[in-house]
Amino acid sequence: MITDIAASTSRGLKTTFIGQKVIYYPALPSTMDAARQAVRQGAADGTVIIAGEQTAGKGRLKRAWLSPPGSIALSIVLYPGLSVLPYLVMIASLAAVYAIEKAADVKAQIKWPNDILVDGKKAGGILIENEVRGDKVDFSIIGIGINVDLDVTAHPEISSIATSLKSQRKDLGVRIIRSLLIEFERLYIKLPDGKTIFEDWRDRLVTLGKKVKATSGRQVTEGTAESVDQSGALYIRGADGKLTKVVAGDVTLKGE
Ligand code: BTN
Repeated sequence: MITDIAASTSRGLKTTFIGQKVIYYPALPSTMDAARQAVRQGAADGTVIIAGEQTAGKGRLKRAWLSPPGSIALSIVLYPGLSVLPYLVMIASLAAVYAIEKAADVKAQIKWPNDILVDGKKAGGILIENEVRGDKVDFSIIGIGINVDLDVTAHPEISSIATSLKSQRKDLGVRIIRSLLIEFERLYIKLPDGKTIFEDWRDRLVTLGKKVKATSGRQVTEGTAESVDQSGALYIRGADGKLTKVVAGDVTLKGE
């Protein structure tokens, strides 16, 4: 069974390196830590760690991430160059959106910087951990979580903001993962030219043109989300006309 899931993910997968090696665990604290462990053991570029369930899933900004059985929880090991780092989040969120649309046949969007939305609610998220020394990247771990069969009503802490793809099809999870890995590699090998990736990511952002509240550490910025730049930063125009650059953090769309 265990090898079945790893094998059915990578069998005949039309990629050259992403997902050619898949390691599946029925349950893990977090695929992020298992991926670090795999790196220490010499994991090849593109190795994918998948968990059937995470008991201590990690979200952005040190939040917890729920991933009971039925959810997609995976991490991809990469050894990229430094100039590639700003694009990883764009590639991961675009790959997740394309995979959900292809495999689940629903429309998906991105909320800055990398929340995956379906019907305006969060259906997935991306967590990236980079290990950088000087101007050299030792490794990057791209964590992707997608709610597939998650009963959000059973989790009051997320029930108003989250959603799940909830499918009748038993193999939807594997189909999304396979599509995700193909899309990820297709976008990744376009680099170092990230221009089209940036433009595609920008065009999928539900955030632009909306009234938003951005929280970055203790700094709160309110206004209209005006634009993003190639580093991924968001520019918000306040009511006083001042333009503020937000590099990282969380955004709430007004009315949410
Ligand atoms: C977010 O806060 O939106 C990011 C969520 C990222 C969750 C994924 S699930 C696979 C990987 N392992 C983790 O522990 N977290 C990421």
